[in-house]
Amino acid sequence: MKIYVTEDYQSMSRKAANILSAQVILNPASVLGLATGSSPVGMYQQLIKWYDKGDVDFSQVRSVNLDEYVGLSPEHNQSYRCFMQKHFFDHINILPENTNVPNGLAEDPAAECRRYNQVIRNLGGIDIQVLGMGHNGHIGFNEPGEAFELETHVVNLSERTIDANARFFASRDEVPRQAMTMGIKSIMQARQILVIVSGEDKAAIVKTALTGPVTPRVPASILQLHPNVVLVADKAAMSQC
Ligand code: GLP
Repeated sequence: MKIYVTEDYQSMSRKAANILSAQVILNPASVLGLATGSSPVGMYQQLIKWYDKGDVDFSQVRSVNLDEYVGLSPEHNQSYRCFMQKHFFDHINILPENTNVPNGLAEDPAAECRRYNQVIRNLGGIDIQVLGMGHNGHIGFNEPGEAFELETHVVNLSERTIDANARFFASRDEVPRQAMTMGIKSIMQARQILVIVSGEDKAAIVKTALTGPVTPRVPASILQLHPNVVLVADKAAMSQC
């Protein structure tokens, strides 16, 4: 695992954007695995700036997002499709048909997960997968205890994740209880993984994930076994390592 420690959130975002843009410059038709959450927002902002300057071109890029809430429409302002449009896709020249997020309104979420696995396969797999890390070590929405061998599947969100995400909804009751997420197997099949972590509140889980045993109780611990992981973290997130 290659680790970059940066001064703060802004420099973390810039470093992560450097890595992602290098991928796109070297292979303009890259398949990017993208993530939501507060961690990658600064990276997306930086990439938009470089796009505006003409330094990076997304016209041939294909993307697959990690996860989506079950029951939220793409237009719902807390859906991950909406997040991606607002924070990234609407500001760059990626083609709408080249972006993929699971459909939160699919009548049969399990069938939607199977379709999504096929989408990833048809794209030839993921060149670089961006990941944030939940406080309990979740990646995507793979909560502690989730089997390592799953591809995209439906999950029940943990109480801790519902609490953490409640700040984005009018009330805790409105937070969906289920999501569709790429599984650990899908994530581990990506050719490269870029993990972005910031803040003191993540310091304990970063230490556990990087130095503790590899166990489904800490989903992010599996990353110790991937041959090509880059971790970009600010000083605060690394303060217990
Ligand atoms: C969410 C997302 C994850 C994200 C994580 C951390 O629940 N499903 O993909 O990495 O929580 O979010 P944040 O970056 O806001 O701390």
